[in-house]
Amino acid sequence: MNWYQIKAYIKYRITTKYRPLNLPFASDLFDKVFCETYPYYTFVVIDKLRDRLLKSNDKIEVTDFGAGSKVFSNNKRSICHLVKYNASSKEQGELLFRLVAYLKPQNIIELGTSLGLGTLYLAMPNSRAHVFTIEGCPEIAKVAEQNFISAHAKNITQLIGSFKRELPKIINRLDKVDLVYFDGHHDYQATMDYFNICLPKSAVSAIFILDDIHWSQGMTKAWSQIIVHSAVSVSFDFFDFGIAILNSDIEKLQAVVKWM
Ligand SMILES: C[S@@+](CC[C@H](N)C(=O)[O-])C[C@H]1O[C@@H](n2cnc3c(N)ncnc32)[C@H](O)[C@@H]1O
Repeated sequence: MNWYQIKAYIKYRITTKYRPLNLPFASDLFDKVFCETYPYYTFVVIDKLRDRLLKSNDKIEVTDFGAGSKVFSNNKRSICHLVKYNASSKEQGELLFRLVAYLKPQNIIELGTSLGLGTLYLAMPNSRAHVFTIEGCPEIAKVAEQNFISAHAKNITQLIGSFKRELPKIINRLDKVDLVYFDGHHDYQATMDYFNICLPKSAVSAIFILDDIHWSQGMTKAWSQIIVHSAVSVSFDFFDFGIAILNSDIEKLQAVVKWM
């Protein structure tokens, strides 16, 4: 953690509430998603894949499309390092899975495939949902493709290219978007641009999940603007990531939650 992240974390701990008050929808999400502990079999499948990738010292050439990395300084990465520093954690992934299992979004977009672990948590709860995942680095995308094959996940469409080029294409071909996982290119302007591209097609009660919302001042600024946007009804700040529910008629609520 750098100084900005340490200060942001202290502020987060001070303002933390265990659960939002007086809102049945939010309480339901707490009980049935955030605090649920049912051990789905899929978790075992993804854990095995994660363990296998963590043991791999194979190196691949990566192309950095995002806001840069605070951990790496050259462009060769071992697979195990990508898992440690780029992939969604087990806890965050399982929360994604539970959200999809409970809210049943149909059209899901992931910005940033990396090795595909997050994609699998989004795709595996419901084979009838469709996940579109975008990755700029072709070498990383190749490894993700193998992972989707080994997990027998058939409801994933991979797009290789920049978010800027690929996201509008997906948005144009869909009637509506139910869930977007913004998990790459963590800077203020890029995050606001991708949010605004997704907004016109966002479904009633669409879920936007933004990773690394306190990674930098720019990301905190983007998150602060998104949660007060007129389309956002409810937002949850988990520090490492935030969840915003859009286009819902429920009362506006912002909750800072202590979860992990
Ligand atoms: C944090 S990782 C994604 C982790 C993945 N969602 C998971 O849950 O395991 C971000 C990925 O986004 C890709 N990326 C970042 N910015 C991008 C951009 N502007 N266009 C395309 N890909 C980008 C990076 O190459 C990286 O693999």
